[in-house]
This record gives sequence, C-alpha cells and structure tokens, in this order.
Amino acid sequence: MRARILGAGIVGLSVADELIRRGHQVTVVDPAPGSGASYAAAGMLSPAGEAWHGEEELTRLCLSSLALWPDLAAKLGVPVHTRGTLLVGVDAGDVQQVERQLSVLDLAGVSYERLVRRELLAREPGLGRVAGGAFLAEDHSVDPRAVVAALLDRLSTRVGATSFRPGERQRAGVETNTVTVIATGAQLPDPYSSLIRPVRGDVVRVRTQEPVERTVRAWAHGEQIYVVPRIDGDEVVIGATTEERDGPLLPTVEGVWRLLDSARRVVPALDRASVVEVTSRDRPGTADNLPLVGPTHEPGVVLAAGAYRNGVLLAPLIAQLVADHIETGSVEPAVDPRRFLMKEDG
Ligand code: GLY
Repeated sequence: MRARILGAGIVGLSVADELIRRGHQVTVVDPAPGSGASYAAAGMLSPAGEAWHGEEELTRLCLSSLALWPDLAAKLGVPVHTRGTLLVGVDAGDVQQVERQLSVLDLAGVSYERLVRRELLAREPGLGRVAGGAFLAEDHSVDPRAVVAALLDRLSTRVGATSFRPGERQRAGVETNTVTVIATGAQLPDPYSSLIRPVRGDVVRVRTQEPVERTVRAWAHGEQIYVVPRIDGDEVVIGATTEERDGPLLPTVEGVWRLLDSARRVVPALDRASVVEVTSRDRPGTADNLPLVGPTHEPGVVLAAGAYRNGVLLAPLIAQLVADHIETGSVEPAVDPRRFLMKEDG
C-alpha cells in the first residue's frame, strides 16, 4: 500500500513508522512537524492517573497501549521513567476526589497502594501540603519531544512540508492501494473538523536542582495538576490547564498563575526552580472523550485523531489499529469514527 499521513505529531509519526515496519510506502505531510500538542505534552503514560467515571473503554485502551510502550521506547532509544506516580490530595475534599479515582481503578481491576500523609512523604520527601493519596506503580512517563525527535530521525526522508491540496484526499481514495491517514490533532480538515473539540492546555517547564523522584498528580483545592520529572536531566513539566477557549495559542496569566500556585503547594521546592518555557496547545477532544481511529465514509480516508488527554500514551495503539485496518479492514468498535459520522448523515 501507499499511505500519505497528514500530521507529524506523535500520533502521525507513530502510524508512519508502523506502516513502514510492515513494508508499506509512506509519506508524511506537515509544515511544522512535532509542533502541536506533542510539543506541549508532559508525556505521562498514565492510564490509572487519567481514569475517570464513565470512561472505562478509554481506560481499557490506555492500558493496552501502555503495554506497547516498552518495545516502542526501546526501538526509539528513548528512556521510560518507571518510578510510578503519586496521586495526592491537598485537603479533605481533594482526598475525596482521589478516592473517586481509586474506585474507578477498583472497577477496572487496576492495582494501587493507598497511602497516608506520612507514607507519601516517605516516598517523596519533597511533598508539601498533602492529606492523603495513593501510589500508582504502573503509571510511567517519557519525554515526548525526545520521542518525536527519534521518530523524525527514523522517518526523515519521508516527512515533507507540502500542504495538502483540496480534492487530493478524494483522488487518493479512488486510486487503488492508496490511503490517506488524517492525524492533524486538534485541527482536522473538513468535513471532519466538527468532530474535534479543541481543549486548551497551558504547560510550564522549569529547571530545578531539587526535582521530584516520580510524577506527582495532585488535586489541590479542587485544581488538578501534575508535576512530571524527566528521567535524564533537571527539567520538570508542570501541567496543565483544561479550558475550552479560542484565541491565540498563548498561555494566560490566570492559567499559569493557577498552575504554579497549586504546584508550589504540592512541591514547595518548585519556588526555587527556574521557569524556562510556558506553552499553550489544544488537545484534540471528542464528544465522548474516545479517539477516532479507523474508516470514514470517504474511500481510502482513515482517521487517527481525537486522542484528547492521552496522545502520547495512545500513539502505539493507534498506530497498530490504523495499520491493522489498512491491511485487513478491521476496526476497534469503541473508536470507530463512523459512530459520529453516521449520526451526522442522519
Ligand atoms: N494528559 C495530560 C493532559 O492532557 O493535560
């Protein structure tokens, strides 16, 4: 098969890499590779930390994709941070939120260790005001920028900046043995743009001599934040706001203030960190928070989209699903894009 991938973020590049591995001819089109949501992402591989009520299918998919990460990371030569994640609550209400998440994990059969304040501090002496929480041993992280750089390195001769011309996608579909995969994150081309709900996230990157040992995800007086250390170096990523707003891709003063205010309560040593970058990008959300992976009603046009809060984690699974679909026609029902396209068609 010949495949044209639109979008060189972590999802598009992973799809390209998987199709090449299976012997297909691939080109990737993106005027600014790796500059979308992958650029802002903290890189949490966190099925348990992201689990929420009513999202059992998503948790199942995230767990499946987590299992693919060790091989992908080894292939790319990118380290995985495997010291697990602490999920903490600052006040009694926050601990109730933690408990809600743990009840989702109970239903999903995901194990965790509930910890009181003293036990949390024993694991992570740098923690500040925390009332209780849990250790999520299987929630890891990678550096998404290192992953994108490694994928671009492997695919360099196949990634081009040419923009896509109207009508080209349809022509590709009617040519035999040619497929177009749309992996353009929060900005899908028409007629698919309305399937995506851009959800803005502001993220702060700091450098510190006193990084946390492992990812800390916190509820802090109702705010949800995370503090993600890199395995190699002194960078720590503090994220992220969750806002459905338009406008230029620039962080707001209020968003950054809220993030830093919560983060420094949870990890007080962050007061001494140097701020090196503040980034704002849109997550590609969908109406049911599940991705859109598989066929459309256009022949030869496949979506690899809508990974919302889990683009890094889900990239290897989406790559596998897209490649399987192209080769065999198989579709994972939970992420079939036609669940929305059919409704639109009436
Ligand atoms: N996965 C974390 C976020 O979307 O902020």
